[in-house]
Amino acid sequence: MELSLRGKSALITGGASGIGLGIATVLAGEGMDLAIASRSPDAEAIATLRRLGTRIEAIAADVSDEEQAVAMVDRAAECFGGLDSYVNNAAWAWHEPVTRVTSKAWNDTLNTNLSAAMWACRTAARHMVRRRAGNIVLISSTAKLTTGFGEAAYRVSKLGLNALMQSLCVELAPHGIRVNMVTPGHFVTRLTGWDRLDRDRVEQFRDRYIPLQRYGEVEQIGSAVALLLSDRVSGYTTGADIVVDGGLQHAMIKVAGDDELRALNAPQG
Ligand SMILES: NC(=O)c1ccc[n+]([C@@H]2O[C@H](COP(=O)([O-])OP(=O)(O)OC[C@H]3O[C@@H](n4cnc5c(N)ncnc54)[C@H](OP(=O)(O)O)[C@@H]3O)[C@@H](O)[C@H]2O)c1
Repeated sequence: MELSLRGKSALITGGASGIGLGIATVLAGEGMDLAIASRSPDAEAIATLRRLGTRIEAIAADVSDEEQAVAMVDRAAECFGGLDSYVNNAAWAWHEPVTRVTSKAWNDTLNTNLSAAMWACRTAARHMVRRRAGNIVLISSTAKLTTGFGEAAYRVSKLGLNALMQSLCVELAPHGIRVNMVTPGHFVTRLTGWDRLDRDRVEQFRDRYIPLQRYGEVEQIGSAVALLLSDRVSGYTTGADIVVDGGLQHAMIKVAGDDELRALNAPQG
């Protein structure tokens, strides 16, 4: 189905690595002009995106700083003469057990993952309200649906994004602006750092907890974002949360082996 995104613009934070780069690759492939913002956007990733043929602008900004987050959005709107879409993707996780949580890691997490979203969405929405149109997509995490050790601050930041999405959705709807969320499960990126983990543990986790028994590909998040940004396909969708996690959120406590489980639903006769 034609998404009709060609010639539209988007600002993507953290769009030069991992999931953000997957989103940028899909959106540029659909013909969108993109501003890619992060503290230090990777030059090679930017060059690769430019080869897809649309306009790609790199913006250096630390989104945890309110002034920089505002300047980043204003700059993107200036580049494109307005902003059709904003994708809030940049985030980081500082893992600490609850008895050892430091104020630095707590504040850095909330500033980078949650407050930054408020400052950037506020500024993007001001631009969009003037044009009575626009789209915002927030990237969340299944960390809000499942618990993990050392993830208190990260979980709180991602759950906070849901509340923010709901408020943005109802307050911006009268201005023709849709606000949605995509919630990734597990993807091998710099943030997960799984390349540094023991291979057996990574495979064991995948087979035990992810029903589809594979990790996600970053472009699969890009496809979900593209679908939501398309007014043609998703024009009536706002306040939605698409979970892209291979079924992780419904992981069962396995009391039988994979072969036994497969046999239960094998074709009969
Ligand atoms: N990987 C997963 O399994 C997974 C699962 C669920 C949700 N997610 C979510 O997916 C999103 C992308 O994460 P990822 O896995 O793709 O990790 P990643 O490759 O490390 O990407 C994080 C991006 O955020 C940028 N960033 C971090 N702090 C920033 C700051 N203060 N200001 C501006 N940019 C900043 C980084 O660029 P710079 O270093 O240049 O600033 C980087 O491009 C995050 O929202 C994450 O919570 C990931």
